[in-house]
Amino acid sequence: MSKVAELHYNNKIFKLPIIEGSENESAIDISKLRNEAALITLDQGFKNTGSTKSSITFLNGEKGVLRYRGYSIEELAEKSSFLEVSYLLIYGELPKKNQLENFIEDISKHTLVHEDFKSILDGFPSKSHPMGVLAALVSSLTAFYPKSLDPNRSAEEVNGTIIRAIAKLPTLAAWSFKNRMRQPVVYPNNNLGYCENFIRMMFSLPTFEYEVNPVVAKALDKLLILHADHEQNCSASTVRIVGSSHASLYASVSAGIAALWGPLHGGANQAVIEMLEAIKNAGGDVDRFINRAKDKNDSFRLMGFGHRVYKNFDPRAKIIKKAADDVLNQLGIKDPVLDIAMKLESAALKDDYFIERGLYPNVDFYSGIIYRALGIPTDMFTVMFALGRLPGWIAQWKEMRENHEPIGRPRQIYTGHNLRKYIPISKR
Ligand code: ACO
Repeated sequence: MSKVAELHYNNKIFKLPIIEGSENESAIDISKLRNEAALITLDQGFKNTGSTKSSITFLNGEKGVLRYRGYSIEELAEKSSFLEVSYLLIYGELPKKNQLENFIEDISKHTLVHEDFKSILDGFPSKSHPMGVLAALVSSLTAFYPKSLDPNRSAEEVNGTIIRAIAKLPTLAAWSFKNRMRQPVVYPNNNLGYCENFIRMMFSLPTFEYEVNPVVAKALDKLLILHADHEQNCSASTVRIVGSSHASLYASVSAGIAALWGPLHGGANQAVIEMLEAIKNAGGDVDRFINRAKDKNDSFRLMGFGHRVYKNFDPRAKIIKKAADDVLNQLGIKDPVLDIAMKLESAALKDDYFIERGLYPNVDFYSGIIYRALGIPTDMFTVMFALGRLPGWIAQWKEMRENHEPIGRPRQIYTGHNLRKYIPISKR
């Protein structure tokens, strides 16, 4: 017999079905509660609310488990590649050899963007944050591919829209950086791998062909895998909710980029390095900053610490910490900011305040250190995160569309004034 929960309210008993997931997670289905009991549920920040049923990513915050389509993040980070993981997330299964080859070829054929993008870029001041530029450029793709505006077109056409998104994002990301540097853009080279191509477009100049270090390309590929999806987080939920109005994939991804930008989400990787530099410049007194983070009258937080769902450890942080060590060793980089990071990490991990609240370094604590070692400027860090998260956003959007999910539209408890009579301005 299927399980139900009982709600006793207003002298009545309401039976609420229990929905169980494949990892035995349980939820009370309250979708009929408003009709049957004139009640809604209230849960600010959706801390305990499932917005959908999804078969893409499983994570268990208490046990530090993260899996894409059933495969552990540890195994994927070690053995797979970013494009293979993208295929897995978007289409649900690991590709066979020829499927992966076709996928990679399709992507490499679509890396170029229309020349008019250069005029759009010219309109942005050089100080523009590359995340804002990227969000605008991705949304502008709808102007160049008007068929993408209708997500109800054939599966083949929708797939073309998906391939273009993956192919063009590195070009648009690198060009948003070039705009900031006021350097001419570099065109993609389809003979290069996904990460090599991106790095070359970032650092080459008309006067200088940048040689991509394979260590750097491999480290970047791993970082992108770790960021590829993270179930119903702020940006993925944004992508799903925007897409639920039947807005195009490009508009939905653009909204996801905007959501990722904030320092409490993807913007944390930039904020971590800025914080570490501030600690270094203030003399390196880690304890002073730890005390500030604990002081409730001070708005300062330890960036890169804490996570909405991981309350023991972030499995991505473990992998990335090792990758950071490897990259720094292989590139022979000694970074004083890294020393501050290590001091901060060990001091916070011993501190009762952080232990009691389950605050551990998250993926962003270390990703910024790697990006810095790779020579990527600080305000591009969140753009790197967006590059990695793109297949996850696409998979979430596609699943939402294929499941014919209704438009996202939360309820509220209104706490404002009751009906008031309008007072003319002369009498106020
Ligand atoms: N430094 C100091 N105190 C913190 C921190 C922190 N980084 N994070 C949480 N706390 C404290 C809060 O003040 C609160 O204390 P209280 O119980 O005494 O009031 C308690 O820990 C719980 O914090 P919440 O904000 O309620 O936790 P929530 O799950 O809502 O927030 C979040 C998670 C936003 C990630 C938070 O930990 C944070 O702001 N961290 C810093 C930013 C960051 O690194 N974000 C990246 C997240 S990972 C990602 O998006 C890829």
